[in-house]
Amino acid sequence: MCGIVGYIGTEQAAPIILDGLSKLEYRGYDSAGMAIFDGEKINTKKAVGRLKVLENLTHGGESMKGTSGIGHTRWATHGAPSDINSHPHMNNAGTIAVVHNGIIENYIPLKKKMQDKGYQFISETDTEVLAHLLDYYYKGNPLEAITKVLHRVEGSYALGIMFADQPDKIFAARKDSPLIVGKSESGSFIASDVPAILKYTRTVYYVDNQEVVELKEDGLRFFSVDEEEITKTPVTIDWDANAAEKGGYEHFMLKEIYEQPKTINDTISPRIKDNDIVIEELNMSDEEIQEITKIHIVACGSAYHTGVTAKYVIEGLARIPVEVDVASEFRYRDPILQKGNMVIVISQSGETADTLAALRESKEKGFKVLGIVNVVGSSIAREADSVMYTWAGPEIAVATTKAYSAQLTALYMLAMKFAKVRGTIDQEKFQSMLTDLRCLPDQIELLLGQKEKIQHFANRYVGARDIFFIGRGIDYAISLEGSLKLKEISYIHSEAYAAGELKHGTISLIEDGTLVVALATQPALFQKTISNMVEVKARGAFVMAVTIEGNKAIEKAADYVVYIPETNPYFTNSLAIIPLQLFAYYVAVGRGCDVDKPRNLAKSVTVE
Ligand code: F6R
Repeated sequence: MCGIVGYIGTEQAAPIILDGLSKLEYRGYDSAGMAIFDGEKINTKKAVGRLKVLENLTHGGESMKGTSGIGHTRWATHGAPSDINSHPHMNNAGTIAVVHNGIIENYIPLKKKMQDKGYQFISETDTEVLAHLLDYYYKGNPLEAITKVLHRVEGSYALGIMFADQPDKIFAARKDSPLIVGKSESGSFIASDVPAILKYTRTVYYVDNQEVVELKEDGLRFFSVDEEEITKTPVTIDWDANAAEKGGYEHFMLKEIYEQPKTINDTISPRIKDNDIVIEELNMSDEEIQEITKIHIVACGSAYHTGVTAKYVIEGLARIPVEVDVASEFRYRDPILQKGNMVIVISQSGETADTLAALRESKEKGFKVLGIVNVVGSSIAREADSVMYTWAGPEIAVATTKAYSAQLTALYMLAMKFAKVRGTIDQEKFQSMLTDLRCLPDQIELLLGQKEKIQHFANRYVGARDIFFIGRGIDYAISLEGSLKLKEISYIHSEAYAAGELKHGTISLIEDGTLVVALATQPALFQKTISNMVEVKARGAFVMAVTIEGNKAIEKAADYVVYIPETNPYFTNSLAIIPLQLFAYYVAVGRGCDVDKPRNLAKSVTVE
């Protein structure tokens, strides 16, 4: 998964491309490169490492003169991170340059064929085959060459292409990898995502599958893979450009943690009308909701964890059986979908390859899919039968926080709506839950006010080797997310366990001083969890408990307690996760980790 940016216009291209790539580094950041047309030929520069290295190499783009170009920030799939494997890739004559996000699945036979025709490959990448194929088909008509190549390749791509003998044009094409193009007074832009070009234009076009775009300084033309011209309507982006910037916080992650009250409010408010929950985008009649026999929730990582919480909430409130699957498992296990089943896929980016594949698998089997998605216009949003947007705004830190919280909120609302329609919740309880839901943003604000306390505690665990998270029911779902947050950004080994399961093996890992974070937010399970806390404490663990205000009984089994405000037990995840996010953040900062860009990870995983 990678990020691409292109520009053609009246301005110098390289600084614009570098600036755009800097907004896409979350898509991958093991190397970067640019190709710029200098009026006579295409010059390329590539560098392994962060974009900074390429910026330094090109003096912020100043050393690469020219008003058209394409650039790339890479997250390696085929071929290790290296200068040679970095994009752009060129044909042997150096007259065609390509940047690519995605995977060309049939590149091995294609590479063999091109080698047999005498083409020299210098990299290990799948992308290079595109440059040679373009060269092979190019007879002076770029559109013809591009569409011929697209007919031959299998897999996914978002492409930026330039030809040295077509100095007034650059090209873009897409299939199953995100791509937008934009237009400003000064020129035309290609990008993997909106923040890359938001500084220059708010007028963007979402490129659909198997479309090709010809970009010129003064306009854009869209074509199908059969070279038929297409008319497309632009979208005006109304986000604030600052939303994609750090806004004074040390890291995007901290900024995004602090944005959660607003995020939750933005997800809730438009869907509460006259003290009722109205989810217009659901496109389901009350009869259809009543006829649901089972819900399959499919997602990856943190989004999967929101699904685990939702299982408890939907089953508890609406009495509909819920099965939660990791998307990479769901797609290959030939899942049993039966009449009346509903599929919900959850994704911040809307581009996660496995989740997208699960969506397609479900649709192929004839089932309607609801997407709970953050990125508007993303692949999952476009392919799902209906979409509930989470309205969390752009999330830049690789570790999700605000999008996770927004997904949870959307799922609570769905559960309440289903319960109301199916008559499994009475009006009084529904109204009291609605009140609790509306209180969540202020309660999160209160928890954020305890930042220093959590930071102080986190500093003690900067050197920890293992940290365990335990809980029962919804608290188990919170544990999963607390543990993932910690390990992905601090690189401390961590595991989450259903509290009652610990003694079936994992408890042997508890040593003197091992930190065990115990979640105890469910009144019905307090005593059971306290017993598990006592078990680990007896084996030397230091126990940090997260529980609800007033549950003083916990203090006899915990060494350190964080209290969260009282709310409906179904909503405690939204509050308990705040100290856990802050804990993970401060442990990682204390260890000097690159919090926003943890090693080996990328923000949207568009490969399986
Ligand atoms: C962890 C994290 C990931 C994502 C997962 C799914 O902090 O961010 O586990 O939740 O990669 O991504 P989306 O939601 O974009 O499908």
